[in-house]
Amino acid sequence: MTSMETVKASPPSSSYDILIGDGILRSVSSALLRTTEKSPSSIAIIADSNVARRYGSRLAGQFSKITKTNLLRFPAGEKNKNLRTASILASKLSKLGVDRYGLIVALGGGVTGDLAGFVASIYKRGIAYIQIPTTLLAQVDSSIGGKTGVDTDWGKNQLGTFYQPKCVLVDPSVLLTLPKSQLINGTAEMIKYGVIGDKNLFDGLSNADLQSVRDLKKFIPNCCKIKAEIISKDEREENLRSILNYGHTVGHAIEAASQYSIGHGEAIVLGMLAEGWIARELGFFGEDDFERQKVVLQSFDVTRKAVKLRQSDLLRFARADKKVASGVMRMSLPERIGAMHRDSKVSYQISVTSDVFSRSIHYVQSL
Ligand SMILES: NC(=O)c1ccc[n+]([C@@H]2O[C@H](COP(=O)([O-])OP(=O)(O)OC[C@H]3O[C@@H](n4cnc5c(N)ncnc54)[C@H](O)[C@@H]3O)[C@@H](O)[C@H]2O)c1
Repeated sequence: MTSMETVKASPPSSSYDILIGDGILRSVSSALLRTTEKSPSSIAIIADSNVARRYGSRLAGQFSKITKTNLLRFPAGEKNKNLRTASILASKLSKLGVDRYGLIVALGGGVTGDLAGFVASIYKRGIAYIQIPTTLLAQVDSSIGGKTGVDTDWGKNQLGTFYQPKCVLVDPSVLLTLPKSQLINGTAEMIKYGVIGDKNLFDGLSNADLQSVRDLKKFIPNCCKIKAEIISKDEREENLRSILNYGHTVGHAIEAASQYSIGHGEAIVLGMLAEGWIARELGFFGEDDFERQKVVLQSFDVTRKAVKLRQSDLLRFARADKKVASGVMRMSLPERIGAMHRDSKVSYQISVTSDVFSRSIHYVQSL
């Protein structure tokens, strides 16, 4: 391993380390022992079929140096992030005799992290788990912060818990096997971090090759720091944590209105274009910063995908967003690159009318 960075997350419910280093998976057992107080009675690695095939046995071999270790697989894909898979996994844990002192290792992307974290939070009323994220999205975002959950018939992430991992081990070198099409899900979030909280990060990303894992890797620790800082101050999304939703109100509506033919990262890129426009329209995002954001986001070349979307569908899905209060949409909006706007210097949730929302969609469709 070359070098390792440690980022501390300190939400009120428990604090933990995020260890980041190329090759960290080769010495994962010592990394685990560094970050947890005592050895677990047994370890269950949960991974989807793709990640289990690539990294499962290697990791199981490492962990078995500490204690009895099993690898539990489930079929890859968002459609399997549900109660049925959670129940199958819990039943396998029980058959393997995993007790209250056992440890779950969530090895994979955001689907695995959410699902395995959810199982850990309810199995025997909660056992310890750690996150080993293997997608860019999971390394910079979903593995940190303790949001776990599964999808239901009535929507995404509708059943879930706040349950923090004991540590997060990030090995950027695994991104070399990640399909290129998955990168945008992480890069969109990285650009979001720049806009909501770090101008230097935004500047760095503006000059980077956003298709190159080698270039992107350098920014991972910075992104982890921003997320860790935010969730440490506001674990349960009372106010500050909502800034992480920048681009996501419109983005989620776009994903749903396209019947998920527009991917998550692409939708967030479009969402930031629309919400940046709204922030400028409401008078708090300056023209220069708005233009700079636009240049970076347009480099993804996804605006043409928004053209066919219907305004009425988008409005319907945006109104179903969790942040709508008394029929008024609420969004977190930037006032400059690196800082978010606060209403009356307090709330990061800004009210947005349907008219402004619709005009922002027109703007994106006209690009
Ligand atoms: N909990 C949170 O705070 C939070 C935040 C954002 C997103 N999420 C959730 O994250 C999920 C999306 O996560 P995702 O984009 O990581 O998708 P994912 O977990 O489905 O992974 C994407 C694909 O990449 C494969 N893969 C993963 N790592 C690989 C590697 N190193 N090499 C080769 N293939 C690899 C997986 O098998 C999968 O097919 C959604 O369910 C979303 O709700 C959660």
